[in-house]
Amino acid sequence: MQISFDSVTADYQIGPIRSPRVLDSIDLLLPAGSFTAVIGHTGSGKSSLLKAMNGLIIPYDGKVTIGQTTIKAGKNKKALRAIRQKVGMVFQFPESQLFAETVEKDICFGPLNFGVSLVEAKSIARVVLKQVGLEPSILSKSPLSLSGGQKRRVAIAGILAMQPDILVLDEPGAGLDPIGKREILQMITAWHKEKKLTTVIVTHDMDDVALYADDVVVMEHGQVVKHDKVRSFFTDVNQLNEWHVDVPQARSLQLQIEQETGIKLPGVCLTLPELADALIEVGIV
Ligand SMILES: Nc1ncnc2c1ncn2[C@@H]1O[C@H](COP(=O)(O)OP(=O)(O)OP(=O)(O)O)[C@@H](O)[C@H]1O
Ligand SMILES: [Mg+2]
Repeated sequence: MQISFDSVTADYQIGPIRSPRVLDSIDLLLPAGSFTAVIGHTGSGKSSLLKAMNGLIIPYDGKVTIGQTTIKAGKNKKALRAIRQKVGMVFQFPESQLFAETVEKDICFGPLNFGVSLVEAKSIARVVLKQVGLEPSILSKSPLSLSGGQKRRVAIAGILAMQPDILVLDEPGAGLDPIGKREILQMITAWHKEKKLTTVIVTHDMDDVALYADDVVVMEHGQVVKHDKVRSFFTDVNQLNEWHVDVPQARSLQLQIEQETGIKLPGVCLTLPELADALIEVGIV
């Protein structure tokens, strides 16, 4: 399912006061089945962009279209219900998404809300719990009693239980240990491929962008300043500094080696195995 933004401008309304434009004239098309990483400096509008995909922020100008459903200024009740079912959103701190007394009730909440029977919801809960790598014994526990990584997995399970067409995850690996983070991102990639989901993640880690995403969107001051294929994006690294964007580890090593040896390696190396192959090809190792 495709996500499209047409001249979207939006802000947060706090009582009578409007915050400055947090999304400013955004045109963006994320094709069905794409995997996009949204990057950019803190406060640039990444989380806000994702919230607009889920109808949590409504444009006051322009429109957001998800599949056949459009959200724009005015009444959106029916569209919002449709969009929330299609777009599974995991927030920046998904732990705060958990609210029920038990893990099972938490995961069942979404499916029940969209008309699934209790028996069926419980069965879905078991399936998705396994998909996020948790044991069924956790179902009767309080979400509050879980570790940070377990809470993150339960929050993701709750979203998967809704069987969304689009998965939108705001910094899904933040604050987790490296292994936990890798497991979560590998799970997301596997679902993305298996279910042909349109997937969007926010991340500050350029190695995640290099390893998992196909496309990259750079946000700055509420605007999309770049939308590109990942490999092409990291080809010319000089421009990245101005957006406060790092370079993936392998690409950074490649540039250092090229500078020190004077030898240009073939291609743009985004991962360490790619770098190793390039070094072998030119005979450096
Ligand atoms: N609930 C809110 N009410 C008012 N203003 C907000 C709210 N949430 C965010 N903003 C403002 O919107 C702008 C963009 O914030 P957003 O959270 O989208 O940035 P971000 O790129 O996700 O940053 P980070 O990398 O720190 O998560 C900021 O100026 C922020 O102060
Ligand atoms: Mg954010």
